[in-house]
Formats: sequence, structure tokens, C-alpha cells
Amino acid sequence: MLLTTAIDYTNGSPHIGHAYEKVLTDVLARYQRLRGKPVYFLTGVDQHGQKVEQTAAKEGVSPEEYVEKVTARFTALWDKIGIEYDGWAATTDPRHMRCVQDILTELKEKGQLYKKAYNGHYSVRQEQFLTDRDRDEHGNFGAEWGEVVEIQEENWYFKLSDHTAWLQDFLEKNDVIQPHFRKAELINALTRNAGIDLCISRPKDRLRWGIEIPFDTDYVTYVWFDALINYVSFAGYGGKESSLPDFASTWNNTVHVIGKDIMVPAHGIYWYCMLHAMGLTDEQMPTLLVHGWWNIRGEKMSKSLGNIVDPSELADSFGVDALRYYLARDITTGKDSDFDVERLVMLYNTELANELGNLCNRALNMSQRFTAGVLHCYFPLEEEDLGLEHSLVESINLYREAMDHYDVSKGLEAINRHVVNCNVYAERMKPWEMNKDPEKKQRVATVLYHLAESVAHCAVMLSPILPAAAAKLAGQLNMPDLLELKLDDLAWGMLANDHTILKPEPVFPRIVIPAAKDS
Ligand code: ME8
Ligand code: MG
Repeated sequence: MLLTTAIDYTNGSPHIGHAYEKVLTDVLARYQRLRGKPVYFLTGVDQHGQKVEQTAAKEGVSPEEYVEKVTARFTALWDKIGIEYDGWAATTDPRHMRCVQDILTELKEKGQLYKKAYNGHYSVRQEQFLTDRDRDEHGNFGAEWGEVVEIQEENWYFKLSDHTAWLQDFLEKNDVIQPHFRKAELINALTRNAGIDLCISRPKDRLRWGIEIPFDTDYVTYVWFDALINYVSFAGYGGKESSLPDFASTWNNTVHVIGKDIMVPAHGIYWYCMLHAMGLTDEQMPTLLVHGWWNIRGEKMSKSLGNIVDPSELADSFGVDALRYYLARDITTGKDSDFDVERLVMLYNTELANELGNLCNRALNMSQRFTAGVLHCYFPLEEEDLGLEHSLVESINLYREAMDHYDVSKGLEAINRHVVNCNVYAERMKPWEMNKDPEKKQRVATVLYHLAESVAHCAVMLSPILPAAAAKLAGQLNMPDLLELKLDDLAWGMLANDHTILKPEPVFPRIVIPAAKDS
């Protein structure tokens, strides 16, 4: 399976939206491995374009220097928050640039590209040509377009219109858009776009910072023909680069994780049509997993509002676990969400520090104190024990079902459900009371065994979301191979009788926030 994120624009610093998409994709990649499926996780940066060229000029550096500096902020953040990707797609990489040029040449030979003169209006800020549909009710181009200039120029076009009928039919017959409710939006847009071809070039006198069109060297290719191709170039398309993976085996069950703003038209229309023009079959078409938007107190994040949340600062303040947990937990894949630091702290403290922390403490600390760290399950079992075993089976099934459908938030709810049941069980059984009665030593051990066995299962299910915490739990359980298990290997009784655990230490310390001053 090939799992990709969008490639992030290197015209600023990474923000919470970027971090969300990486964490979501990283969780899905790790989950697929837990399912025993081979995954290639590709992510990277989108480094060309006019905005980058302009910012670099403002800062008095070359675009090369500028993108190198900004790219380093992205890679440092991904390292810091545990994003484990297999391939790094940087669009200034010469291997990518050659692949884009080869595809342009191939499409030109197939008669899919043509040159045409264009007269009309152009928005410098949005870097796009405008049509009469972009005018407001007074017939003007609104302030959102910034400076609008009239230009006349020749450019290269891709025959998008050759492929839209196929695409319409393909989308109607296949479930490639996730979640499903986004499909109608895409099909509507397709109907509106029918008959329009895609301009794919800019003359070099307007934009130098791009990939040169190999058969017309006064031009560079522009935005989407460069950026979208990263998904195939870094998967080894064309087979010319021995340092890249093998395309035939890598381009399989491809899923592109993207935000809703780039579904229409970029991925949902341009990309499918480009792949179709390149000759990929219907079976080879990727799935789009379209996620929602993070807002800040109901408003869009923007430089001008000064409300951009820096994920690196959040990781420093609250820890990587709290940040990853919040991003995976507080947004249902596909929906929008409001970023809120108080919720981040609240979710971590309630669900991890209190519930799961309490379970781990009970399972491991009490075993250390009451049974010298030795786990043992004695028979016959009581109804409550069997009830807990049943709760775990149900949680695993709910978890699998949710995660198979990319619903990470629901997957976490499935784990938490069992954690809560464990704490209820512990409070009913009261091993701390039973331990005072020498007749009940075996019952104490059996109850603690049930809690420890539950911790082992939860660590495995949690491992895609919180890999570092899961590894600590496996360590304390003295089960060094625990995280090599696959989801389908999980079965009650992984802890052998008389297994000894190691010294427990808190894995989810409470976040304590100093009382805020009134502002
Ligand atoms: O669009 N909430 O780059 P980008 C959630 N280079 N997701 C968000 C978000 C937010 N507030 N802001 C951005 C680009 N994203 C192009 C992509 S792909 C061939 C080229 C998501 O840096 C956004 O939806 O603006 C996109 O998926 C990703 O972050 C990169 O956005
Ligand atoms: Mg964007």
C-alpha cells in the first residue's frame, strides 16, 4: 500500500493543519503495519512557485537558500513528533524534476498538450487567470484577488476535457472518495468544469522558480503539474532511478491523505485526469482520504490574524504524546474541528493520565507490591473476569472496524471503552482490600493478571497513535516483542503464568497548568 500526505508549501512554517495531516497519515501507516500489510509512507514539501520566489527575494536570498531553510523546519518537526516516513518528496529533487519532464514529453507525444494564446485578467496574489465568473455583482474583481493585471501570453495547456467524461463515469462506479459525503461535491464541481482545459505553464520572464518545459525552454511548468506528480515520481514512475522504489510494487492501493481545500479541483479532477492521460488503469486510480479543517476559535488560521498555532511549541509545552493524542482524538476524519489548548490538556488528563494511567498503575504497581511482580491467573474464573475478557474482545473488534475505515478518533474510543471497564472491574474487585485476606492471594493475582493482560492489549492497539508510550508499557511489562505482534495475533493469555514484570514508572504524568493570570 502507498500512503501519501499532501506536500506542504515551503513558504512559511509548519502549522497545526500540517501537523494533523502528518500525524493522521503516520497513524494510518503504523496501523496498516499492525494489520500485517506492507506500507510505503511518502511525504514531503512543495518548493517551487511564485510565492516562494517572491518571499526569497524579499529576504534577499536565493530561492534555493530560502527553501532549504524552510524545509529544515518541516523535517525537524516531523522528527520531533515521531513521523516515520519511508520516502521524502521534495520537488526540487532532480529525480523528481526529470520525471516531470519525462511525463510532459510523453503527454505531448500523445497529443495531450497544446499551446494557446490567452488574453485576460490575472490575479498576482492568487497566481491565477480570472474569468468573468470571478467578478462580483458590480462586475469588479473583488479585493480577495489582490492586484489584477491584464495580460496577453501564450501558454501550454493539458487536454483535461478529453478525460472528464471518463472521470464522471469512474467516480460514479467506484468508491475512491473517502469519506463518502465528499463525492457529491466533487461530481458537482466536475459538471461545472467540463470543457475547460488546464493551463500548465508560465513564461520564464514571469516565473523562473519552476521546472523547465523540456520542449519549450522559455517556459516552466506550473503548480499542479509539478506538485501532483510527486506522488508517482517518488514512487519510482518511469523506472529510471535506482535510488527510488519499484513503481509496480509500490503503486498499489494508493491512498492520498489531503485536506478538503485541495480536493476540488486539484486532486479530484486534475490528478485523476492526468493519471488517466498517462495510461493508468481504473484499478490503479488512487483513493482520496479527505480530512477536514482545523480552525482557531471558529476562525481560519492566517498570518494576518496572527493566530497560527506552532505544533513545535505545543510539543515542548505538553509533550509529543499529548499533541499526537489530541490531533488523533479530537477530529473525526473528514470533519472540521476547533483547535483548543484547553481541550488538548483536558483530553490528555482525563483519558490518558486518569483512565489509562490509573489502569497501568493498578496493573503494574499493585502487582509489584502484592505479588512481587509475578503474574498468575488461577482457575476457576469468576463471572466478572469473563466479563472483562469479553469487553476486550469487543473493544478490539470496534477498534479494527474503526481503524480499517480510517476513523482514528473512533479507534481511540474503542480502546478507552475497555480501559474504563478495567477501572470499573478493579473498583468492584478491590484487590487492595482482598490483599489483606491471606485466603484471597490467588484471587488478587487473578485480578491483577486480568488488568496486566489488558494493558498489554491496549499497548498494542495504542502503538500506531502513541508509539513511544506503547514501547514504554511493553518494557515495563517485560514483553520486549509485544509490539511485533500483529492485530490479528492478539488473543487472551499473552502473559504466561509466572511471568515477571519490571519496575513500573508512570507513562502518562498529569499535565499541570499554572493558574492563568487574568488578561
Ligand atoms: O496545499 N487544517 O500545501 P499547503 C487542516 N502544496 N489541514 C490543513 C490546514 C488546516 N488549517 N491548512 C492546510 C498545499 N492543511 C499544496 C499541496 S499536494 C500535491 C500539494 C492541509 O501547505 C492542506 O489541506 O497549503 C493540505 O492537505 C496540506 O495541509 C498542505 O497544505
Ligand atoms: Mg493551502
